[in-house]
Amino acid sequence: MAPVDQKQPAPDAPLHVAIVMDGNGRWAKRRGLPRQVGHPKGVDAIRRVVEAAPDQGVRWLTLYAFSTENWRRPAGEVAEVMRLLKLYVNSDLDKLAREGVRVRILGRRDGLPPDIAEIVERAERQTAHNDRFFLQVAFNYGGRADLVDAARALAKEAAEGRLDPETIDEDAVSRRLSTGGTPDPDLVIRTSGEQRLSNFLLWETAYSEFVFQDVLWPDYNAAYLHAAIEEFQKRERRYGGAVADDVLAAG
Ligand code: FPP
Repeated sequence: MAPVDQKQPAPDAPLHVAIVMDGNGRWAKRRGLPRQVGHPKGVDAIRRVVEAAPDQGVRWLTLYAFSTENWRRPAGEVAEVMRLLKLYVNSDLDKLAREGVRVRILGRRDGLPPDIAEIVERAERQTAHNDRFFLQVAFNYGGRADLVDAARALAKEAAEGRLDPETIDEDAVSRRLSTGGTPDPDLVIRTSGEQRLSNFLLWETAYSEFVFQDVLWPDYNAAYLHAAIEEFQKRERRYGGAVADDVLAAG
């Protein structure tokens, strides 16, 4: 069989892919190592996917790195994830900026340690002019928290007389989410075999296609991304409407 040409994106490739990167802990445990050893391997997988995604036709990539619920993990593991975010930005930001990648961090800023908040702001500032590829990292992010924050923003604007509640529509909510201005994900991938959304992009995934892959995140690579995109291309998206053939048959 001819090797897959991953440099040729199919015309109907998903523009926005969102990934729940799951399985770092299990990857380490299977090797008899402490859970947190899986996370630096997870960062290597992030690098592979950020490199491969634009070649496969993807323009927006959103990665779920740290949820509002992940603070409940052991302090050492939380500290390791913070350290890795810092290390990743310090080592890769210049390259990402040069390659036209715009970085955006989704989630609550308050509650982040000051050094992490600073690095997040630097990553966004240094890439603010880029538009070749959009890398969004959900960090201290929760879908419900994001909706609560959007509701608060709307309520505040209404209370201050700057917004007529009657004019609030879906677009008004979308614009106030931390993903505001980004198209909704076409494809959501979750690794490790688990089949849950885990409070990720609750509003934005209303019509997304889901692909669950039985691979632990540290083992993820361009070929797995390609396979998920191929699966996506077999799906028929209806957005609540009918299949095109059925509409024709119904006359
Ligand atoms: C899921 O595996 C992974 C996470 C919750 C953390 C992901 C974080 C990184 C890859 C590093 C930091 C991020 C960046 C952007 C550099 P798990 O620990 O839930 O695995 P398990 O389900 O097997 O326990």
